[in-house]
Amino acid sequence: MRTALAAGLMLLAGATTGAQAQTFPSKPVTIIVPFAAGGPTDALARAVSERMRQALGGQTIVIENVTGAAGSIGVTRAARSAPDGYTISMGHLGTHVINGAIYTLPFDLINDLEPVALLGSNPMLIVSKNAVPAKNLTELIAWLKENQGKATIGTAGIGSGAHFSALYFQSLIGTKIPYVAYRGTGPAIQDLVAGQIDLIVDQASNSLPQVQGGRIRAYGVTDTKRLAAAPDIPTVDQAGLPGFHVAVWSALWVPKGTPKDVIAKLNAAVVETLADPAVKKRLGDVGVDIPAREQLTPEALRMLQKSEAAKWWPMIKAAGVKPE
Ligand code: MLT
Repeated sequence: MRTALAAGLMLLAGATTGAQAQTFPSKPVTIIVPFAAGGPTDALARAVSERMRQALGGQTIVIENVTGAAGSIGVTRAARSAPDGYTISMGHLGTHVINGAIYTLPFDLINDLEPVALLGSNPMLIVSKNAVPAKNLTELIAWLKENQGKATIGTAGIGSGAHFSALYFQSLIGTKIPYVAYRGTGPAIQDLVAGQIDLIVDQASNSLPQVQGGRIRAYGVTDTKRLAAAPDIPTVDQAGLPGFHVAVWSALWVPKGTPKDVIAKLNAAVVETLADPAVKKRLGDVGVDIPAREQLTPEALRMLQKSEAAKWWPMIKAAGVKPE
């Protein structure tokens, strides 16, 4: 009797989940962006969600910015949400890997979130306010060394993309310039334009429009190739800091326990979105590299996350990086 009931209930649960997936999404879906509006993560979420909505049968996708602790507050909120596919965690190398080596998180960053899909990779740009008296990277490094006590570097918090990139930059040039933390590089770039801070190592998609507008200055892209959208900006290798290569990849996750077929629907929507020529152009114009098709599976994202954790966690722990 008992086993028949258990079997019946299992069948029912399976059927319910199957039915859920069939009708998914039947209400608005929320993407939690763990940084301030107007920044690179927010802009990527908005660019992708507009097209994902179409792929998901026209269902509304809401962007909710939940900021703080270099994205850990927003990721925690998402990780604790119902595992039904209606709450998606947007993030990147910083929020879903690096922060695991810095913050004591109330969940397992790798195993309590199910990967959905990679979205794109963003090389960094070394940018300064226009008032910095340097015309190229060599002069900038000299100026930073002379002004270590006065200069400031903007970040989106300890562990953010802008922070671990600047940490790497400073370890290469041998400076210890203090960081100014913002709730995202959206607000940080505003202060750079206004001359409140001196430098950001920022995702290209965020600073490129300001560079092209002549409001800030760029010294190099942290990649082996120049940005197609900005061929005038040298690579760091060409500019005199060979090997300073770092990029921030972004992706989507859902809480652990979300039905596999719901994840498959979300993944299919991302694949369709990133194959759209208009989305490709929009992201390409700000320097975002779209992953190859075979990198767009949930399994590929899981493997990437694990291999990056294996690479970065020992470095971050050895550097003794602590939350603010
Ligand atoms: C943002 O959207 O503000 C950035 O992703 C922050 C960062 O990690 O640099």
